[in-house]
Amino acid sequence: MNAGAAMARALCAIDVRRGVLERYRHVSQVADLLENWDRSVDYWEVFSALNANDPAIDVYRVLSARFGGPSVEYGVGLGRVAAKVRPTFGVDISPRMIEKAQVSADLAATRLLVADMADVVLPELVSYSYVAFSHFNAFDHSELFGSFANIRKNSLDGGGFVFDMRTPARYRGLQSRLGERFLGHSGDGWEFWVTFGQRERDLFSITCEYQVLGGQSTTIGPFLERAYSDEQVAELLLDAGWELVEPDSYASVDPYRGSVTDRLWVVQARSGPLRSGRR
Ligand SMILES: C[S@@+](CC[C@H](N)C(=O)[O-])C[C@H]1O[C@@H](n2cnc3c(N)ncnc32)[C@H](O)[C@@H]1O
Repeated sequence: MNAGAAMARALCAIDVRRGVLERYRHVSQVADLLENWDRSVDYWEVFSALNANDPAIDVYRVLSARFGGPSVEYGVGLGRVAAKVRPTFGVDISPRMIEKAQVSADLAATRLLVADMADVVLPELVSYSYVAFSHFNAFDHSELFGSFANIRKNSLDGGGFVFDMRTPARYRGLQSRLGERFLGHSGDGWEFWVTFGQRERDLFSITCEYQVLGGQSTTIGPFLERAYSDEQVAELLLDAGWELVEPDSYASVDPYRGSVTDRLWVVQARSGPLRSGRR
């Protein structure tokens, strides 16, 4: 990359960051979370390697074949899922994630963009959009709506949108673990600690620390997460121009593991006027 292009890319990254921090200034911990994506690249590299063959990835691949291309993964990270799905575009807010993803041979045909999914304008409309394992639960109400609406704007009429979210049942489990410090082992020399907390009725904090392969322990949290009911998510989707094509049969997968089954949403871009004028 020449110096001019490198400078343009760095400025673009700063602009993205500034926009995100501005939107989140009222919840500083969430701003921390987004800053953390850049800082947690090494953690994510270990996670991605350990979970490269996660069965949940296959669901995104199968649905990609069903909806066809062009396609996009928002929150593409290091390309763990995109390596199997091979979308046309990969969008991520973290410049460091994209920098690393760019060297992957599996992503050679995927155009990678540093941008916020809530306002990126894709070079062309797509027929399949997905967000895999992307902590939508960390988004507040307006950020979730903004993302759903912008993903709709980038979609062709009838295009599919698939994403996973933690169900409220997951957080009931968390409530019972309030204050508890949980030590986990990845089985590959990687240890992590998670401390559970709760701020308000629906707002949970999960503070993560990890130690990669005997290195220094680093704090990558806190993550703040919200427990959205299915009704709340469905309402936001409808308002943003999506329809639930399979209200009773969206597959249940287990992207986050554990005793609780999380939810995979499969929706389709509605044509015609929006249900609400919010967009
Ligand atoms: C949990 S990682 C998942 C990465 C990848 N989908 C996977 O499953 O391996 C979430 C990714 O979403 C990105 N992200 C978070 N907020 C975003 C936003 N508003 N727009 C675009 N990407 C975002 C983060 O930088 C991070 O790379």
